[in-house]
Amino acid sequence: MSDTIKKIGVMTGGGDCPGLNPVIRAVVRTAVLKYGLEVVGFKHGYNGLYHNNVIPLDLDAVSGILPIGGTILNSSNKDNLFQYPFEENGKTVYRDVSDVGVENIKKNGIDAMIIIGGDGTLTSGRDFARKGVKVVGVPKTIDNDLACTDYTFGFDTAVSVASETLDRLHTTAASHNRIMVLEVMGRYAGWIALAAGIAGGADAIMIPELPYDINKIAQALIARKEKGRKFSIVVVAEGAKSITGEMHVNKVIADSPDPIRLGGIGTKVAEELEALVGLESRATILGHIQRGGTPTARDRILSTRYGSEAVELVMAGKFGNMVTLKGDDMSYESLEDVIGKNKGVDPHCEMVQVAKGIGICFGDE
Ligand code: F6P
Repeated sequence: MSDTIKKIGVMTGGGDCPGLNPVIRAVVRTAVLKYGLEVVGFKHGYNGLYHNNVIPLDLDAVSGILPIGGTILNSSNKDNLFQYPFEENGKTVYRDVSDVGVENIKKNGIDAMIIIGGDGTLTSGRDFARKGVKVVGVPKTIDNDLACTDYTFGFDTAVSVASETLDRLHTTAASHNRIMVLEVMGRYAGWIALAAGIAGGADAIMIPELPYDINKIAQALIARKEKGRKFSIVVVAEGAKSITGEMHVNKVIADSPDPIRLGGIGTKVAEELEALVGLESRATILGHIQRGGTPTARDRILSTRYGSEAVELVMAGKFGNMVTLKGDDMSYESLEDVIGKNKGVDPHCEMVQVAKGIGICFGDE
């Protein structure tokens, strides 16, 4: 056990996610109660690291936050300190200001940083580790697409919200004999669509990993109609691609490390299916509802385990790593091996085969 660690800094970066507060709480409680350490938090992700916006995190500061969505530290999905934007002569220029971050960590007497985030945030985490900062990462994203870990926290909550939405869409679909299309998040991976589609009894699921032919989806829904089932439920991941098409990009946020924002494919799919199947169709874009609010019990437990394990890695001197879940066990993996690898759904995996086996159409065959 390290006796050189006296003070830990924590920050949350990227899009928020249910379970961030339970991670922060577990970090503080483990650090204070088990190891007698001091903990501080940088506000608004790397923005706070740059501006030295730091707050003390004691037991009182984390009291009552376990069931609360969002993050008490706030977050930012911009502010990459290795490519920080400045306005100069009417132009945006980018500079590496990461030394300011390193300086602020030193100025606050912080011995190690616990950085909670997805691929963008942890890319900077890795880069700070390369500069000698003692970093431990915690994997966050509702999309569940970070490499080297079986599950990221936030995913279970997003799937629960999406499944409950599908239950609600079922009753209104059946009342009106309509096709109801639910668009869920998942930029590069279809985990939320796949899991929610199975849990919510969808008739068709469209995910980025299995480019779909809209005619094949339509045929499956027509077959249902001919058997007397005059309504259908379709789940589409925001990043789904047709066999001929591209992703449905909604906007590009230039100063974000992950600039693509998707959204709107659900409306397109509903219009196409209405024309091809001959049933009235409606689209629901679930959006940030699946990212807000209280985390499920499963996410609270996973977040607590991740937060606690992150402190254990700090105390064991295992820096430059991200905590992971492998099977039922906590483990860790080098940030060097995690970054830039998207963990998509394997089109041949058991979950996809089970879904196909129970008659869910993916539009690929
Ligand atoms: O990566 C997490 C995520 O929630 C994606 O599923 C989604 O596409 C994106 O973030 C939305 O980002 P923003 O909060 O910037 O709209």
